[in-house]
Amino acid sequence: MMRPIHRWVWSDPHRRARKLLAFAETEADGGRDLARASELTGDALLRRLYLRHAQDEMRHADMFRTRGRALLASLSKGDDTSTLDAMWIAPGERGLDDLRVDGESDESLLAFLHLSERSAQERFTAYHAAVLADPDTRDVFTSILRDEAFHMNYTYAQLRRVSPRRHGWRLWLARASRFWKAYLRLSSAIAGLFGGIMLVVQYFVLLPVFALLAKRAAKKENDGWSAPQKARSLRSQY
Ligand SMILES: [Fe+2]
Ligand SMILES: [Fe+2]
Repeated sequence: MMRPIHRWVWSDPHRRARKLLAFAETEADGGRDLARASELTGDALLRRLYLRHAQDEMRHADMFRTRGRALLASLSKGDDTSTLDAMWIAPGERGLDDLRVDGESDESLLAFLHLSERSAQERFTAYHAAVLADPDTRDVFTSILRDEAFHMNYTYAQLRRVSPRRHGWRLWLARASRFWKAYLRLSSAIAGLFGGIMLVVQYFVLLPVFALLAKRAAKKENDGWSAPQKARSLRSQY
């Protein structure tokens, strides 16, 4: 159902370049958080896996950045007519941008990572199909998708290892937390939209009325300095 929308989002080369650069930021941010997670965990195997995961995300950041810059360099600035980045339609590896590793247990972090990596894999598969006309960008997605599949699988396998009896519950909690964050994102987007509409209505409907009233009041005023209407008392200020 989303395929034509993704094809439209990725069809504009300027937008494509900007999106790749924005994806690079998310991947690099996720890489830093995973490096921090590897410092915090007390599990030796998880430490090694988080570190490998962090290196993968940093490499993804480099790949997206390099391709985004090359694409931008090949385009002329004057042709850029796309103003919409459509990040809410086609976000990058969302989840990594929400990652808070401090204070998380290994179980909850692995459950959160597994769901994030799974949705990243689904998204990147859709983007991979949408950039048919751009083989270089397609190659970037092909290579990154292999890593995302590994991230998705190792997080699930490790979650089952560290929490053999409660991994289902951990996944359910992580899903509820993602749902809540999605709800907050949607609510703030709707609030922003309605706020914009209200400001436009105020500007074009309410302000002209006040401007008209001010103009009419100004007409009743005498020009320049004028004497007070009533003679003021010499005994009082009022
Ligand atoms: Fe990634
Ligand atoms: Fe990933």
